[in-house]
Amino acid sequence: MSGRADRQGQQAARWDPRKYLEFASERTRPFVDLLARVPDDAVHTVVDLGCGPGNDVPPLRHRFPDALIRGVDSSPEMIERAWATTEAPGVTFEVGDLLDWQGSADVVVSNATLQWVPGHRAVLPRLAEAATRAFAFQVPGNFNAPSHVLLREIGADFGITAVRPLEVGTAAEYVETLGRPGWHVDGWETTYLHVLRGPDPVFDWVSGTGARPVLAALSDADRPAFVERYKAALREAYPECEIGGRPATLLPFRRIFAVAVRG
Ligand SMILES: C[S@@+](CC[C@H](N)C(=O)[O-])C[C@H]1O[C@@H](n2cnc3c(N)ncnc32)[C@H](O)[C@@H]1O
Repeated sequence: MSGRADRQGQQAARWDPRKYLEFASERTRPFVDLLARVPDDAVHTVVDLGCGPGNDVPPLRHRFPDALIRGVDSSPEMIERAWATTEAPGVTFEVGDLLDWQGSADVVVSNATLQWVPGHRAVLPRLAEAATRAFAFQVPGNFNAPSHVLLREIGADFGITAVRPLEVGTAAEYVETLGRPGWHVDGWETTYLHVLRGPDPVFDWVSGTGARPVLAALSDADRPAFVERYKAALREAYPECEIGGRPATLLPFRRIFAVAVRG
């Protein structure tokens, strides 16, 4: 399958901004940690590739109070939501594929998006070149976590084998790719421990992101049985515990970061 066709296949599963934002705080935190490593002086323009439904704007505005911020995302649903929920001056959004994006900015960022772009490592130097100051991104590194292994295994039992597992590199690979003459590069990884509440919270989390392609590929007849089995397997893999005197589920979540700064 070609990169573009594969990309379209993954995107055929539409994003649901409301579902995605159920965990907005947890999903946005790595972006705050990423931006903390990006220089904030002399930054007048910022482009956010895969900007999502607008949750990236507050941390961007906080880090770059005076910059023009432009969000680009291939999902019309996400862009519609971003426009609807953002009133900040100097912020604009557009529907577009980051592979087709040809602009430039002082800072180019991408949070939790490049994992959806097959072969994204090859695109990194071009995205960095588009930045006059810094290029920074974060990708999840949890595709071998029980949540995703179970998704693939149970999906296969329901005949869903064509959904490509998302691929990311290691921090070292990203540092090697971006570490060219004239650039200072920083790479690291972190495992966040999210404290989730309520019934089946891990299912709720993954059904807003990584499980979307499998859920969309299932027939309407098969989906309820799949969901029931997947939820039961997730409850076993991520058992309920008690935190702060209340039931909770701990979700360890590995994420990989890279920042390339000119000069
Ligand atoms: C997990 S969300 C991340 C949203 C936001 N950046 C955040 O940190 O919460 C991934 C986003 O990437 C977008 N996306 C995926 N592939 C893309 C591509 N090739 N070009 C532009 N956006 C893309 C999706 O539409 C989605 O909004």
